[in-house]
Amino acid sequence: MNYVPAPRRFCIAPMMEWTDRHCRFFHRLLTRRALIYTEMITTGAVLHGDRARLLGFDAAEHPVAVQLGGSDPAALAHSARICADLGYDEINLNVGCPSDRVQEGRFGACLMAEPDLVGDCVAAMKAAVDIPVTVKCRIGIDEQNPEASLDALTRVVVAAGVDALIVHARKAWLDGLSPRENRDIPPLDYDRVYRLKRANPALDIIINGGVRDLAVAAGHLDRVDGVMMGRAAYQEPWRLLDVDPALFGAPATFSSPKAAAHALVPYIEREVAHGVRLHAITRHVLGLFHAVPGARAFRRHLATEAVKPGAGAQTFLDALALGADRVDAPRTVAA
Ligand SMILES: Cc1cc2nc3c(=O)[nH]c(=O)nc-3n(C[C@H](O)[C@H](O)[C@H](O)COP(=O)(O)O)c2cc1C
Repeated sequence: MNYVPAPRRFCIAPMMEWTDRHCRFFHRLLTRRALIYTEMITTGAVLHGDRARLLGFDAAEHPVAVQLGGSDPAALAHSARICADLGYDEINLNVGCPSDRVQEGRFGACLMAEPDLVGDCVAAMKAAVDIPVTVKCRIGIDEQNPEASLDALTRVVVAAGVDALIVHARKAWLDGLSPRENRDIPPLDYDRVYRLKRANPALDIIINGGVRDLAVAAGHLDRVDGVMMGRAAYQEPWRLLDVDPALFGAPATFSSPKAAAHALVPYIEREVAHGVRLHAITRHVLGLFHAVPGARAFRRHLATEAVKPGAGAQTFLDALALGADRVDAPRTVAA
């Protein structure tokens, strides 16, 4: 295939507590083409927190987008500038998180009710940085009619110059559901996102929510510009090894999950030498082996041994030795 694929054709979702820098480094070993998102970071944390710890990333992670949480245009513009200067490839604004803490801060999903403010936020960030500014939203909240709420938000962010809209294709119910329930209970409405794309052919629209595998992802790509995968990517990272061949017509980064895991060893050595606990890295790797003998032994070994003081690269290699490699056809591997 000779086309230059859109940069957001396949994205790995921002996930708090999950997509930290160790996770992102690991995911990047499995796919060179996916656009990877950080956890949400609030403007308060960017402006007043420990920036090196909160925002540091490895050059190998590119392309990597930072997701900001906030609703004050000036604070978002300042935060976006800081992140752009650090080298992030995209600034994304969270308009989808339903947690109480986020609602108290008047950002996240509750901003679906304040499209003009979101427009002001996007305009301020666009004026502050040269890199793309994107928004991740829901189709609506609570009693909103998704036809009107998503159109209203889209209109203002397009007017403000947004570079892409990522739509989690379900409502958030802000009263009575936990964030976790809000990822499963409000029904998915992919057709609503397809209609948005038909009405806005020039806008880069990425669909998110419930995408279980790459075949499903490929189906969406007939109707929207990109797919964002969250839980399936994190819990079953072996799927990511097929992203480059299946969705980009590009060679896989490694011939097998085990080969990719071995490539993580120098990173583990470096990070552990800097005081990082092995478990902080390997907790993201537990689902790497699927349907092969030893997958459970690999997980169990890491779960019990990687938390122990002194655990390091050898602990990881011992766990790897317990798992068989994937046995399907060898891949074409990038040089
Ligand atoms: C543990 C976890 C943390 C999440 N944190 C964020 C976040 O920080 N920002 C955000 O926009 N969405 C967050 N989400 C939502 C995901 O980005 C995504 O929209 C959602 O999981 C639906 O996609 P999926 O069905 O592919 O998982 C989180 C999801 C999970 C499971």
